[in-house]
Amino acid sequence: MPNACVVGLQWGDEGKGKIIDILTDEYDIIVRYQGGGNAGHTVVVNGAKFVLHLIPSGILHPNKKCVIGNGVAIDPALFLEEVEELRKRNISVENNLFVSDRAHLVFPYHKLLDQLSESEKGQEKIGTTGKGIGPCYADKMARVGIRVVELYHPEHLERLIQRNVEEKNRLLQGLYNAAPLSWKEIYEEYRAYADRMAPYVCDTVGYINEAIKASKRILFEGAQGSLLDVDLGTYPFITSSNATACGAASGAGVSPKQIHKIYGVMKAYTTRVGGGPFPTEAEGALGEHLRERGGEFGATTGRPRRCGWFDAVAVKYAVMINGVDEAILTKLDVLDDQETVKICVGYKCNGKIYERFPPDLAILSASGGCEPIYEEVPGWRQDTSHCTSLQELPSMAINYIQYLEEILDIKITMISVGQDRRQIVRPDSVSSARLSTNLPSYRDR
Ligand code: GDP
Ligand code: IMO
Ligand code: MG
Repeated sequence: MPNACVVGLQWGDEGKGKIIDILTDEYDIIVRYQGGGNAGHTVVVNGAKFVLHLIPSGILHPNKKCVIGNGVAIDPALFLEEVEELRKRNISVENNLFVSDRAHLVFPYHKLLDQLSESEKGQEKIGTTGKGIGPCYADKMARVGIRVVELYHPEHLERLIQRNVEEKNRLLQGLYNAAPLSWKEIYEEYRAYADRMAPYVCDTVGYINEAIKASKRILFEGAQGSLLDVDLGTYPFITSSNATACGAASGAGVSPKQIHKIYGVMKAYTTRVGGGPFPTEAEGALGEHLRERGGEFGATTGRPRRCGWFDAVAVKYAVMINGVDEAILTKLDVLDDQETVKICVGYKCNGKIYERFPPDLAILSASGGCEPIYEEVPGWRQDTSHCTSLQELPSMAINYIQYLEEILDIKITMISVGQDRRQIVRPDSVSSARLSTNLPSYRDR
């Protein structure tokens, strides 16, 4: 299984960064394929915390190569800031970090329009990160986007920036009553970025495909989560890219035949940041408690994340659309103090029961009458954060993991019990451990 892809199975922030950092040991090249500065991937090594937005989470391993693929929306200012920050912390970014010449650039007008369009929406706002992601991908689809390669053709770049800024200014002034932007200033700014980015820019599509030919192992890094996918998520409360594994082929420029294994990362509970339906959201004390214990504050915007129980209906859907081979469960330790743990196995709405994740937001929202149907399992009420083997995990924690395996019909091959790289359990088989718990399986209940 040479190449693999890591995706989030919920609404993002599942702990992908930590898992990619761990999996990097087994791969040669780590490739981000979609999203942009909206992502915040946290890696903690010996207490040192790194939050990566554009640069792949494999960058902390000195002998690996990292690629920002053609599907990523690149804000050059953010990229250069991230590079500088890593350099300051003695992380090498020389000769091991490559940026696709085909990737689209985020411009100041994208960020401005993102923020203005959100403020216009009032109650219906998506709660975007304000990083210009939606408008940048909209321009890409409208065929007026500007790619990294254009930075190196000054006259052409000048023309494109002038055309776009003049068009956006009509929107800014006419629709939002905002001050116009100067295309000349933006052009000068991006010309300067061009020089600073030059050492990293290359034909990453050629690079990755040649590496595949040379039997190098590639790990594709997904950002956001499957339920935020533009085609398959809770539209319109989604991001503007394909956050599922399907995005990896087009976002890295490889054949889908080159993605051999899909890892799905899921939290032991659910979080969501921004607007949109969230059937298992716990708004009272439980929500607050999970937020505090899990440190559930956005890695990019610092916003408090909405929290609730594990939603197996939603994750089952994510497992299906990604074709997940192995699931990875994170933040199990956050549930250590719960007396009982709940799992949503269906939704009840207007007298009807839904066991399949529906596209209809009315069915998914509490205001539309959606009520989650919960199964309850006993909690374990022991500290799991020191556990590094299945044998060390409390039997009730194993019971919960197996319950999830059964209900999702998937193997869980890694369990994360803390922020640090070392806080990980990689069992050979969770199923065999059931024998020691003497608990009935989910199907027997
Ligand atoms: P990502 O966007 O999927 O990479 O996830 P984020 O980094 O945005 O959010 C996950 C947060 O949980 C980060 O602060 C991680 O350091 C932290 N984290 C990851 N795994 C675990 C875990 O197993 N236990 C705890 N307590 N924290 C974790
Ligand atoms: P990682 O990679 C969680 C959410 C935003 C908003 C919606 C659209 O760290 O898991 P956007 O700025 O993309 O137009 O916002 O998507 N969102 C994320 N939520 N984790 C992320 O990334 C996210 N990236 C975007 O909060 O609801
Ligand atoms: Mg995140």
